[in-house]
Amino acid sequence: MGKIKTGAYNPLPVAPMVLVGATVSGKPNYMAVGFVNGVNIKPAIVYVSLNKRHHTPTGIIENGTFSINIPSADYVIETDYCGLVSGKNVDKSNIFTTFYGELGSAPMIEEFPITCECRYTGQKVEFDMDTVYFGEVMQVYINEEVLGADGKIDVLKVNPIYFSGLENRYRALGEDLGPGWHIGKQYTPKQGTAEAEPRGPKYQCSIVERCAQPALTIRSRVAPAELAATIGQSAATVFLFARDNGSTPSGALFVAYHGFDGQGLDIEIGFPFMPGIEGRGNIHLSEIPGGKAASYRHVGSYEKLPEVRTALEQWLSINGYVVCGATYEIYLNDPQTTAPEKLETEILYPLLPGS
Ligand SMILES: Cc1cc2nc3c(=O)[nH]c(=O)nc-3n(C[C@H](O)[C@H](O)[C@H](O)COP(=O)(O)O)c2cc1C
Repeated sequence: MGKIKTGAYNPLPVAPMVLVGATVSGKPNYMAVGFVNGVNIKPAIVYVSLNKRHHTPTGIIENGTFSINIPSADYVIETDYCGLVSGKNVDKSNIFTTFYGELGSAPMIEEFPITCECRYTGQKVEFDMDTVYFGEVMQVYINEEVLGADGKIDVLKVNPIYFSGLENRYRALGEDLGPGWHIGKQYTPKQGTAEAEPRGPKYQCSIVERCAQPALTIRSRVAPAELAATIGQSAATVFLFARDNGSTPSGALFVAYHGFDGQGLDIEIGFPFMPGIEGRGNIHLSEIPGGKAASYRHVGSYEKLPEVRTALEQWLSINGYVVCGATYEIYLNDPQTTAPEKLETEILYPLLPGS
């Protein structure tokens, strides 16, 4: 097959078209955007990439909020119009019926089947022409008409617009090619290649159903270098607090990893207890969630845990499981009295039901 070099540009064939809304100087303003997508499942974080000369970014900074409005194909003319004219010169506040949600300042479009209001996280990335703004989705609003008989969104009823930048055309959704996170299981590796090797069976999770366990925890944001010391201090604080109140843990010490923002880890450190336990001060009543989860028992030093977790997360992704919420490490024996190669850690991933 002959390959032709055609230059350096964005080759993505289609982008979902949205109108990004913001209140600028007290008025709703909407602009057409194709550089938009999600970057994190929970919390739900989205990004929009906006040219620095546009009117809309001023409103995002002014209010710390914006909206993403997904048009149906019926509104392709209005959508394109919002990409042709700027709120700096033309009042775009009367093109649609605007409503506001919980944030009070992110204008949303009544006529569009899916809209959401976002809180600007304060994170942005500057490029020569555009600035990428990140927002946390606080609420999604759906028009009832686009729900299918099963109560889920029927995307054919939404009838979204895709922009094909390669040919400068708007296009509607095409044929159904099969279920996501699933159809790839039909792939047959080519014989005699590395891909034909089984994929790391030693890192397969077991899928389990768990009961929720009440827990007492301390939540903190720590630099990776401070992790071990913080685990030790917080574990001792929770243990002594419970003991002074006549309780002992019903299970092993655990750490829940909620996220990493590039500098600090958002973690919860604690023990499970029988129901009825209560916290105080910075010791909170929490829980190890119940429901469907992926579990893996690692035997070996704690130093290998990041590597094992990366491999497990690949396994989960390949097998179509969607992790929902924090990842748990449960330390099943005592590092003070156990040789590093005999340490046992359960790694637990709560899963999105149905994934
Ligand atoms: C198909 C299409 C896609 C667009 N995508 C983007 C985009 O991703 N980012 C951007 O900054 N502008 C994009 N624009 C341009 C803006 O929508 C346009 O410049 C608009 O007038 C800006 O409005 P404002 O100044 O009121 O904010 C797009 C326009 C069209 C027609």
